[in-house]
Amino acid sequence: MSEQLVFQPSAAAIARTHVTKAQYEQMYARSISDPDGFWAEQAKRLDWVKAPTIIKNTSFAYPDVSIKWFEDGVLNVSYNCLDRHLATRGDQTAIVWEGDTPGTDGKATYRELYERVCRFANVLKAHGVKKGDRVTIYMPMVIDTAVAMLACSRIGAVHSVIFGGFSPDSIAGRVADCGSKIILTADEGRRGGKTIPLKKNVDEALAKVSGVETVIVVKVTGNPVAMTEGRDVWYEDAAAQVGAECPPEPMNAEDPLFILYTSGSTGKPKGVLHTTGGYLVYGALTHQLSFDYRDGEVYWCTADVGWITGHTYIVYGPLANGATTLMFEGVPSYPDASRFWQVVEKHKVNIFHTAPTAIRALMGAGHEFADKYDMPSLRLLGTVGEPINPEAWLWYHKHIGKERCGIVDCWWQTETGGHMIAPFPGAIPTKPGSATMPFFGVQPVVLSPEGRLQEQTKAEGVLAIADSWPGQMRTVYGDHQRFIDTYFTQYKGYYFTGDGCRRDEDGYYWITGRVDDVLNVSGHRLGTAEVESALVAHPKVSEAAVVGYPHDLKGQGIYCYVTLMAGEASDDALKSELRNWVRKEIGPIATPDLIQWAPGLPKTRSGKIMRRILRKVAENDFGSLGDTSTLADPAVVDDLIANRQNR
Ligand code: WT7
Repeated sequence: MSEQLVFQPSAAAIARTHVTKAQYEQMYARSISDPDGFWAEQAKRLDWVKAPTIIKNTSFAYPDVSIKWFEDGVLNVSYNCLDRHLATRGDQTAIVWEGDTPGTDGKATYRELYERVCRFANVLKAHGVKKGDRVTIYMPMVIDTAVAMLACSRIGAVHSVIFGGFSPDSIAGRVADCGSKIILTADEGRRGGKTIPLKKNVDEALAKVSGVETVIVVKVTGNPVAMTEGRDVWYEDAAAQVGAECPPEPMNAEDPLFILYTSGSTGKPKGVLHTTGGYLVYGALTHQLSFDYRDGEVYWCTADVGWITGHTYIVYGPLANGATTLMFEGVPSYPDASRFWQVVEKHKVNIFHTAPTAIRALMGAGHEFADKYDMPSLRLLGTVGEPINPEAWLWYHKHIGKERCGIVDCWWQTETGGHMIAPFPGAIPTKPGSATMPFFGVQPVVLSPEGRLQEQTKAEGVLAIADSWPGQMRTVYGDHQRFIDTYFTQYKGYYFTGDGCRRDEDGYYWITGRVDDVLNVSGHRLGTAEVESALVAHPKVSEAAVVGYPHDLKGQGIYCYVTLMAGEASDDALKSELRNWVRKEIGPIATPDLIQWAPGLPKTRSGKIMRRILRKVAENDFGSLGDTSTLADPAVVDDLIANRQNR
């Protein structure tokens, strides 16, 4: 029913838009028919040391996948985000910072940010960091984190930001994978009234991985932390010893900019590698057009910089556009469920961008928390990270947007660098729950699960992309074969997204969620394989299988089937022990929601776990288990159903 609802862009949105409906159609068509011409023009939004003459050089042809954009161009990302704005907007606020504790805030103008970045870059150089070196950043939501990222880009170092919620083990794995010799961290972070022991976590990680020579520690809370002589340095001490000037390193467009680890359906998280020119062109363009950003507006994306959304839509896209971007240290529920709206009023936010999981939680807390705030500054609302249910969309539109603000549902991935499917706010009518239409240069296709191209408009299947766009990841760091295996092998000639989708009669895309063994828990991506390997690492666990199930707030919850070693007592104490164990191994986002003791798992005679059955039982939908005749022991299923945890 609500899927039939269509919201036209408001008169105000149409009046101010960068791109009208007719322009969208005409520019989209050109971006597909003449990608070289289209992207050569778009590249001019950046300042290049040497402008590119070769624009698109890409192939999805299996097995020789190769992706290059602007390959003879030379530029520097931090120059584009900072230096080039100084003459026109040096005194404009670049970053507004709002602290976890109400009443704490700060800001940096473009000039101040520039100065802080140059100094930080000199600290990195003084500690031996060179172009191409990997720098791990494990920091909280403070301005210095953006400074650290930009400082890396200034000298051509490749950052690998790790979300502050990840555990010491997760840090160790990522540090080892990219071979970084330096970690930038803080004493502690703050979140929801609690402190997060960042430096302590780094210390624990470094007990498990070798090769890190330097840890630079930014003072955030000022609480005492252990410092290891000869390895650990306070940032403020190091900064006092370096100069203020740091020229930007000229980088080839295809030089790496950053690595960001993300979960896949198998194995350990993979290092998604993004490069310099294509990523920045795409990030800046999508930021400007998806949010119809204009000079002087205050833009707030509530993501953490530890995720791709924070990279592209808190730091790089907005700053390349000379925007004012807000960084929020806290959480939506602290001190209470009105915090977001207080911050919107306080900083006169024009564009607000968050995740469905936060919207659902705030909806659950009650609209009274938002009703107290008129928020006249708000113009546009964004949602990203997971499918948004129409009910939450409509609540967001009514209670936050006061039926005045458009909603931009952005579908994309860590791998895509920037938005892929999202409505241009002044051009595309929206439908609650649909990410709508593709961005310039993006050619979505719907395939049947077996790989047949669905040519009719109305279609359902898996979502793939037919050709490259500038923001696309280039490889899995250190493992190009894994890049090809993961994205280009199952459906040859296409980039496979891992998502299912439906295209309606108007050509609108409706993302239905992952079709692989990747979970989306509160907008955070998690491989079932990672949770399984954490569980089987526990001495009392013999075997584990993990699936997702629908969860009202989180989108998906984590459902674990656990087989214990012979003789272990299957009691609640052990369940909470396992929950804590997984938290410690991966991080709080991976905490199991439901654990079911499974004396046996449903396996085929060849020993393969039939996940389809496990998913059905976890969804409490076991009426239609499908064909179970290939099971080695069909009685296992009866036991699973009888003891199911989600009723
Ligand atoms: C997966 C990517 C880059 C955004 C932050 C998450 C899901 C993302 C939407 C949306 C439906 C969405 C997909 C995708 N997803 N945005 N608007 N509607 N689903 O990035 O951690 O790389 O996760 O998030 O399943 O594949 P990520």
